[in-house]
Amino acid sequence: MAYPQLAVLPSAAKRIRHHDCWVFRDELAAPLEPAAHGAVVELVDPHAAFLAYAFYSAHSHVAARVVSTDRSAAVDRALFARRLTAAMSRREGLRGTNARRLVFSEADGLPGLIVDQYGDVLVFQSRTAGLEPWKPLIVELLRDALRPAGVLERSDKEFRDAEALPAVTQVHTGCVPERVRIEEDGLQFWVDPYHGQKTGFYLDQRDTRSRVRGLIRAGERVADVFAYTGSFGIGAAARGARVVCVEQQESCLALARENARLNGLEEQIEHVAGDAFYWLEAKAGGRERFDWVLLDPPSLAKSRAEAFKGRRALHHLLVQALALLAADGTLVLSVCTYHLLGVVEEILRIAAAERGVRLRVRAVTMQATDHPWVLQMPMTRYLMSWTVQRDG
Ligand SMILES: C[S@@+](CC[C@H](N)C(=O)[O-])C[C@H]1O[C@@H](n2cnc3c(N)ncnc32)[C@H](O)[C@@H]1O
Repeated sequence: MAYPQLAVLPSAAKRIRHHDCWVFRDELAAPLEPAAHGAVVELVDPHAAFLAYAFYSAHSHVAARVVSTDRSAAVDRALFARRLTAAMSRREGLRGTNARRLVFSEADGLPGLIVDQYGDVLVFQSRTAGLEPWKPLIVELLRDALRPAGVLERSDKEFRDAEALPAVTQVHTGCVPERVRIEEDGLQFWVDPYHGQKTGFYLDQRDTRSRVRGLIRAGERVADVFAYTGSFGIGAAARGARVVCVEQQESCLALARENARLNGLEEQIEHVAGDAFYWLEAKAGGRERFDWVLLDPPSLAKSRAEAFKGRRALHHLLVQALALLAADGTLVLSVCTYHLLGVVEEILRIAAAERGVRLRVRAVTMQATDHPWVLQMPMTRYLMSWTVQRDG
C-alpha cells in the first residue's frame, strides 16, 4: 500500500535508525507531502531511503510516531494482531494479581495504546489520532483473545488535547460494572474504571508496593500521603502497622475506606481528607512521628518550563516529610514527574541537610514490569521511587 511520504531531517533519521519512535514537527523536512491527521505515513531520510511507517499527527508537537521499521510489514490487521499477542504473552509470567497493564504504548510497538486488565474487564486508552480508525479492530482482537466480560474505552481529555481529539468514555463491547474487584498480593481492591485516576488503579506502583510491604513490621506507624484509594496503606496495615491515609479527593478516600473494610483492616487505618501539603506542615510542627512516610505526589511539573516550580514543591514536601520520621524511620518517595527524575537525589540531599539527617538508601525502584520502557526513549521511564532510611 502507498502511504504519503514524509522526509525527516538527518538527526531524526539517525534517531529512528537507533530505535527512537518520535519525530518532532521541526524535524520534518520541507516540502511535505500532504497527510491527513492520524494517517499512516512513510518516513524517509533526506535521500528518500525508507525509515519507518508511522502515525502522523497534524496537531501534536510529536508529528510522527513510528509503528514499524520493517518495510515489508504494512500497518494492517496482521500487524495489530502480532503486536497485541506479543504484548500479552510478555505479561504471562506476572503472578499474584488479576490486574495488569497488557499494552504500554511505544514499549509494545503500538504508539498511544494503553490496555489495562482488571479481572475480566479490559480498559483501554487511545492517545493518538493514528489509533482512532483501528479501535474497532483492537476491540475485536482483544475480545477474541481474552473473552472479557466487557471492554471500556477511557480516553481522557488530558491525553487527547495535544492530538485535538475529544474525550471518550464508552463501552465498546459487553458490560463493564461501575466497580470491579481486583486482587493484588493477597489483598482486594475496588476499582472504579469509569471515574478513577488513570484507568482506575495505580498498576505502575505494584512492584514498589510489594517491596515496601515486605519491609514493614507489625506495630509500626505509617503515613500514606497522597493515598488515592489506599493501596500502600492497606498493604502496610496487612503487615500489622497502624496507618494514616491522607488524600485530597473525597471520592478517592471513600473508596480507600471501602478498600480498608474489604480487607478487614478498617480498625488499623485512619483516613484524613485534606491537602497533604498542609497536613505535612501541621504534623512536622507537632510531636507525632512515623516509622514510615510514603509520599506519592501527583505530577509536580507537566513540562520542562514548570520544572523549577516542581522542584520547589518537591523540596518543600521533603523538608516536611523528613521531620515526621522517627529515629530509623523510612521515607518512600515516588516521583512520576519526568522533568524532575534527574534531580531527585540532589533535592533529597538538600532537604536532609536542612533537617540535619543522614539518609541510607534501601532501594530505588521503578514502574512495574508490565510498564516496560524503551531504553532509547528515556521519557518512557516516568516513575521512580527512593526508599531512604533515616540514620538514627
Ligand atoms: C500518584 S497518586 C497516588 C497513588 C497511590 N499512592 C496508589 O498507589 O494508589 C496521587 C494522589 O494524590 C492526590 N492529591 C493530589 N494533590 C493532593 C494534595 N494537595 N493533597 C492530598 N492529595 C492530593 C490525588 O488525588 C491522587 O490520588
